[in-house]
Amino acid sequence: MAVGVFDSGLGGLTVLDAVTQALPEVPFVYFADSAHAPYGVRDADDVYDLTTRATQRLFDAGCDLVILACNTASAAALRRMQESWVPRDKRVLGVFVPLIEALTERQWGDNSPPREVAVQHVALFATPATVRSRAFQRELAFRAIGVDVEAQACGGLVDAIEEGDMILAEALVRSHVDALKRKMPDPQAAILGCTHYPLMQDIFQDALGPNVAVYSQANLVAAALKDYLKRHPDMMGSGTESGFLTTGKPQKVSHHATQFLRRKIDFEAA
Ligand code: DGL
Repeated sequence: MAVGVFDSGLGGLTVLDAVTQALPEVPFVYFADSAHAPYGVRDADDVYDLTTRATQRLFDAGCDLVILACNTASAAALRRMQESWVPRDKRVLGVFVPLIEALTERQWGDNSPPREVAVQHVALFATPATVRSRAFQRELAFRAIGVDVEAQACGGLVDAIEEGDMILAEALVRSHVDALKRKMPDPQAAILGCTHYPLMQDIFQDALGPNVAVYSQANLVAAALKDYLKRHPDMMGSGTESGFLTTGKPQKVSHHATQFLRRKIDFEAA
């Protein structure tokens, strides 16, 4: 049994860490498409092609279930993949829905009509492709009414994090938060809608101030996956080994990953 976790780069490691803690007995195979990151500046066809290629590699590694721990791929490619590409005996799930269910105070799979919720002014920080797709607003509209969302495309931030340039990453977070606050001075909640951004969560919180509730995906996705596997134990694939695959330079990717997660991580070539 093994479950695949995919991201364009290192951001999905924030999700991997949480799912590993929630499900210590499950082997996870992580795929970082580092050679093609960032996805956030690519068009939807390109994101679709790259995401299907990576997902196939995870199927080949013995995973029947693959989590797209990447909002850009979840927003730009997931629906098309589920409609026309995913084989019958496999599943691909995204990271959007658990986050929106938490924000709208819903239990997993509660499909009742949209209703009013506590938060009304929400800031969304995401990649340019995710913001352009409006997938977040669409999913939110299925569940909540009267929520005003202001989206800020955080250009450059994923590149800075992938390169390990945390000084630039911090400067970018602060300037993107300033830009957001010019459009929405008092958000009640902020969504980190890119799995790279929790690596900068303290800076987001500091720039937004203590009164803004910052939502990030890792723990929400872990809880949702645990629940899903309880209901679908057959979706654990045939693979038995955990591992880390990358399309980038394994040594460089391993070095940055080890820095981020503060434990030794060894990537191999995909
Ligand atoms: N971490 C990804 C996301 O959640 C991808 C970012 C990118 O490659 O631009 O959107």
